[in-house]
Amino acid sequence: MARGLRVAVVGAAGLVGREILAIMEERGFPIGQLIALATERSAGDEIELEGERVQVRKADAGSFAGVELVLMAAGPAASRELTPAAVAQGAVVIDTSSAWRMDPDVPLVIPEVNAADIAAFDKKSIISSPSAATIQLLVAVAPLHREAVAKRIVVATYEAVSRRGQGGMDELGAEVTALFGQREFEPKVFPKRVAFNAVPQVGAFLPDGFTREESRLVEESRKILHVPELRMCATCVHVPVFNGHAESVVVEFDKPMSAERARQLLREAPGIMLKDDPATADYPTPIDAEGTDATYVGRLRDDPSAANSLAFWCVADNVRKGAAANTVQIAEIWARDHG
Ligand SMILES: NC(=O)c1ccc[n+]([C@@H]2O[C@H](COP(=O)([O-])OP(=O)(O)OC[C@H]3O[C@@H](n4cnc5c(N)ncnc54)[C@H](OP(=O)(O)O)[C@@H]3O)[C@@H](O)[C@H]2O)c1
Repeated sequence: MARGLRVAVVGAAGLVGREILAIMEERGFPIGQLIALATERSAGDEIELEGERVQVRKADAGSFAGVELVLMAAGPAASRELTPAAVAQGAVVIDTSSAWRMDPDVPLVIPEVNAADIAAFDKKSIISSPSAATIQLLVAVAPLHREAVAKRIVVATYEAVSRRGQGGMDELGAEVTALFGQREFEPKVFPKRVAFNAVPQVGAFLPDGFTREESRLVEESRKILHVPELRMCATCVHVPVFNGHAESVVVEFDKPMSAERARQLLREAPGIMLKDDPATADYPTPIDAEGTDATYVGRLRDDPSAANSLAFWCVADNVRKGAAANTVQIAEIWARDHG
């Protein structure tokens, strides 16, 4: 292992944690020592990094002595419990969960969109990575928003079951097997059967009738774009796709933004792959995005129903760009500037 930072990954045995380690290896992140943490369940398992085997240990408040960087991929409850302990021991925590995203002192960062926020916030001991649905939406909207300000966004998401981690993947697999075997299956991870279905509930319902995922998408977008008055309406749906979220998006701008101009801007934009040729039926699907770190955009159209309005479709790998890759990109910026 190269000489470098002392890094802990919490949730190292989970979907996002494993992908964080793979991406760090791919991108040559300078890890001097890796501490792989999870719950009792995975403690003792071995993971491999750069040809060396690292044993997973149970995380607790004492796990972070001497650790410089913590990548937290273990859910909001674990993050609320362990992040303060890691910070108290001098580490910087980059968190993939919702625990700290809306804390006004915590930068919420998509490197292609608002990398400057890392330096702009006073307290830099916690940096949050947004929800996967927010990341792909804003990687696509930001290059347009730099030319014409986004005033209103209407978005419908088609979210993969990997959003709920390994448990979500396992539940869809088990449902499909049970259905083909003509057996009953009681969903546990999702509120209703996802297999061969579409479930318009991602997260708990809030008093206003929106779900937590829908509300997050709105709040996170306003914070990241620095447009608190952004008008936005989201509908989030689980679909029987193992991996890769898709979104149907309509954005109204403060001045004209034609589909042709949007194509030009997106062709040059960081983190975007444009796949948009109706003549050859070229548009992205979740399968195209799987295993990649790009946000794929297609089906760009001038919206005839409102002025200065644009419709498009975007997809991204929610486990990679939606969590792991975004987190490693943030870690790279932090390591470059402060490490
Ligand atoms: N999946 C996505 O599309 C996605 C997108 C954006 C953000 N995220 C965020 O990424 C995080 C991880 O999600 P995932 O999809 O990787 O879930 P996952 O596959 O269920 O993995 C969760 C990992 O966290 C560990 N863990 C849970 N509670 C813990 C605790 N109290 N202390 C230490 N480790 C604990 C688990 O340990 P065991 O292995 O021992 O069970 C497991 O390794 C979550 O915060 C999620 O919100 C996920």
